[in-house]
Amino acid sequence: MAIGKSLKHSACVGIAALLAFEPLIAAPAPSEHRIAIDATKAGPTISRDIFGQFAEHLGSGIYGGIWVGRGSPIANVRGIRSDVVQALRAIEVPNVRWPGGCFADNYHWRNGIGPQDKRPQTLNPDWGGVIEPNSFGTDEYFDFLGQIGADAFISENIGSGTAQESADWFEYMTSGKPTTLANLRAANGHAAPYRIKYLGLGNESWGCGGAMSPDHYVEEMKRFSHYTRNYNPAQQSGSAAMKRIAVGWDSGNSDYTEAVMKAWKDKVWSWDIEGVSLHGYTIPNSWEQKGPSFGFGESEYAKAIRATLKMKDWIARETAIMDRYDPDRKVGLYIDEWGIWTDPNPGTNPGFLQQQNTLRDAVIAGLNLDIFMRNAERVRGSNIAQMVNVLQAMILTDGPRMVRTPTYYVYRMYVPFHDATLVPVAFDPGSYIFGTISVPQVDAVAARDKAGNLWLATINVDPDKPAHFVASISGISARDAAGELLTSSRVDAHNSFESPNTVIPRTFAGHVARGTVEFDLPPAAIAVVQVR
Ligand code: AHR
Repeated sequence: MAIGKSLKHSACVGIAALLAFEPLIAAPAPSEHRIAIDATKAGPTISRDIFGQFAEHLGSGIYGGIWVGRGSPIANVRGIRSDVVQALRAIEVPNVRWPGGCFADNYHWRNGIGPQDKRPQTLNPDWGGVIEPNSFGTDEYFDFLGQIGADAFISENIGSGTAQESADWFEYMTSGKPTTLANLRAANGHAAPYRIKYLGLGNESWGCGGAMSPDHYVEEMKRFSHYTRNYNPAQQSGSAAMKRIAVGWDSGNSDYTEAVMKAWKDKVWSWDIEGVSLHGYTIPNSWEQKGPSFGFGESEYAKAIRATLKMKDWIARETAIMDRYDPDRKVGLYIDEWGIWTDPNPGTNPGFLQQQNTLRDAVIAGLNLDIFMRNAERVRGSNIAQMVNVLQAMILTDGPRMVRTPTYYVYRMYVPFHDATLVPVAFDPGSYIFGTISVPQVDAVAARDKAGNLWLATINVDPDKPAHFVASISGISARDAAGELLTSSRVDAHNSFESPNTVIPRTFAGHVARGTVEFDLPPAAIAVVQVR
């Protein structure tokens, strides 16, 4: 957008100055979009776990990004950096998936407990081959969760670990009885059993997690599901019970989902699952040459938007399979890794997956969160990859410096949608066309929060054209609509350590007349308003 647009604009200014005429190219007129919101109807609950995060031992995702150690000059509480904790608290992170990713299938939990100076130095073979100091282990993870107020999502090692190792880990974490492992946990500073909301039964077991055939995985998954027990007395039944998520979707291939769901339909008493995972990344170009994370023009922008909208089809495909075996929708779909994956920043270790985060990524975050919310009947959770310094991060750090990304602000703006009730919305999306790429121009989702307030999230994807919304709402007589807007003059605009406030939300309000709410979104913008 802005690259081309500012060129056009400066050319005009030059001609105008020369000829003393008005600029020849006018700003595009806004497109018009009618939205019908039926606030008399209630859809499914939008699980707050749709706004979950993923933190892997990868690059500076943990070390430097979260963990700085007790002796660090960076302000910290028990080794966990306080600026990051404070930022994450503001987005009300529901859960953090840990320790991987591919790392999970290399992880041996005993290396990461006990006195720091006795922990072994191991390797991180998948991510840069660097030394893993094991300073951030199980007890540090739970301390971090406590500091940010999030639930635990543990990915266990099915690839290189044993069922016994996992069983011991879960006894260490959850036993309320004074077994040797529970006593060890108490000696390490935590007498009470930890709560674990989610158990990931392996990670990408079709690839880095063991390269297993679907049938082989199903046999392993059933064994691990049985032996990985959560002993926490408060989690033995009902909604508090730990949910187990099996590996699904293999980059365009549903064989795992089919095999897992078929096995689930015929399951016996000794094992069960409550979820199947889908990993779906937005790759703007090809896997080999993904494209830059900043300094790009409209072509890269349009390709990324087209790529990210595939999520809708992936979910539809997985849902159709799950519906065949589970028409009552007992098993949830968890998009437990997603986000834009670009080329690494020049000059960085390619194994660290460090990339800049732009307004484009904020639009991508909003579009995906909208897709998940619309599918809330089946989609019960998602974990963006990854929380700090890796891929589509919320936060970037560099030594003592920290900056919130545009994606972070989308997560902050969407907090009212946590555990809200979806409200049906019909709208005319229009089209954003760039060359041969044509995608819907606008998006809209509405929901009522737990207090009954009505919220509306809207996105204008078009990087050149503003969008004018006219929203009619059945069920309430609107008085005003106010909230926040996130945009910038360039789609590759980003926040840097030097300029941390380039892309930040600003207050935003609609105009209410005769019961309809009207507002204008600038090009490439995300708005969330409360309609009162
Ligand atoms: O998020 C980075 C990597 O992407 C994860 O480790 C892996 O599960 C996926 O392929």
